[in-house]
Amino acid sequence: MDTTRKMLIIDDDSIVRESISDFFEDSGYEVFQCINGRDGIETMRSEDPTVILCDLHMPGISGLEVIDVVKEERPEMPLIVVSGNGVIKDAIEAVSRGAWNYVMKPIYDLAELELSVDMVIEKADLIRNNRLYKEGLEIEVEKRTRELFDLNQDLEKRVAERTSELESSIKVIKEAQAKLVQSEKMAALGGLVAGVAHEINTPVGVGITAASHMETATKEFEKLFEEAQMKRSDLQSFLATSKEASRILLTNLTRAAQLIQGFKQVSVDQNTGGKRVIDFKEYIDKILMSLHPKIKVTKHNILVDCPDKLMVDTFPGAISQILTNLIMNSLTHAYDEDEDGDIIIKVRETGKFIDVEYHDDGKGIDEQHINHVFDPFFTTKRASGGTGLGMNIVYNLVTQKLGGQINCESFLGKGTLFHFTIDIDQ
Ligand SMILES: Nc1ncnc2c1ncn2[C@@H]1O[C@H](COP(=O)(O)OP(=O)(O)O)[C@@H](O)[C@H]1O
Ligand SMILES: [Mg+2]
Repeated sequence: MDTTRKMLIIDDDSIVRESISDFFEDSGYEVFQCINGRDGIETMRSEDPTVILCDLHMPGISGLEVIDVVKEERPEMPLIVVSGNGVIKDAIEAVSRGAWNYVMKPIYDLAELELSVDMVIEKADLIRNNRLYKEGLEIEVEKRTRELFDLNQDLEKRVAERTSELESSIKVIKEAQAKLVQSEKMAALGGLVAGVAHEINTPVGVGITAASHMETATKEFEKLFEEAQMKRSDLQSFLATSKEASRILLTNLTRAAQLIQGFKQVSVDQNTGGKRVIDFKEYIDKILMSLHPKIKVTKHNILVDCPDKLMVDTFPGAISQILTNLIMNSLTHAYDEDEDGDIIIKVRETGKFIDVEYHDDGKGIDEQHINHVFDPFFTTKRASGGTGLGMNIVYNLVTQKLGGQINCESFLGKGTLFHFTIDIDQ
């Protein structure tokens, strides 16, 4: 870069020009002299001087007009007015039009002018550096802004991508959940059907035994009659046998009919889910009967504490499914094998609600698990086939179908309490 300082002197007074020129050339400046404003402006354009010294009063274009052009075309080029008429008004005018400084002629000490020149050049350097710095900053800021913008767009794109990924996986999960809920319901029903078969086996078996005993007795009686060997005691014995067989048959068929009736009710209710008035206590007993095959292989006691003739207009299917799940959970999760537990189902009517407290005195639920008991898929028995849907179904039935609420309290080693309500006003 060319570091030689260039000075442009515009003055119609040749003595002034020469003396200044000599002085500054000695100081290392390359000096251009112009005798009027027009030449001065041209040289300013072609030479791009470091500093301009300009007279005010010249023939042709005046110093003030030169100042205007310089200010317009090279605002960062320092210009010092060197004028001889000594009127302060001119100085003020010149500075207000854009001159950087003002020096009076005659100049007695050129060192003073040099000081003034150095000052304006320094100021011009500062201004230029400042501008460059600011431009640099602006470019940097612009660059950063663009980077941020790009980053932002990228982020937005990624968020959108993730959101749609999440949406589709939520959809998959929901579908899977719906399927599992359905299969859990079917499994409950399947269990029920197996229970029915098992439970009915006993009375029907006893009935068959009684009937076949009766058949044998009748054949023997018939033989005695045909051979005309019948004694009074034979008749008496046959009568006693047939009376006892009829009694056994009647009791067991009645029991079987009762069971079928109960199972039918529970399974139909679970499936259809209609609303009707039930005797709450009787209904709980029916549910327990349907679970009897499962319960009787344990040593647990189930106590139902419910007022008689508590008539409730509700969804029996939901009640049945809730209690079945709660009881099955106690049997599966609360007790070790061979343990004997007490399960209490306490029912009260409280104004608009039926209040049910289901309590077992088993192992209880870990504090860290208790808040997840109703979450779908939460199970501590995944390895042995738990789906973690039972309590979620219970939760949905209570809160959606029965218009109630449910909560769970439990302490390790002390058992578990499920407390739920049924809105009977809805
Ligand atoms: N009566 C209970 N005693 C102890 N833990 C229970 C009881 N009921 C439920 N749980 C806990 O809650 C979890 C969720 O139950 P559930 O939703 O029915 O799923 P699953 O029975 O398939 O494990 C169980 O895995 C168990 O840890
Ligand atoms: Mg369960």
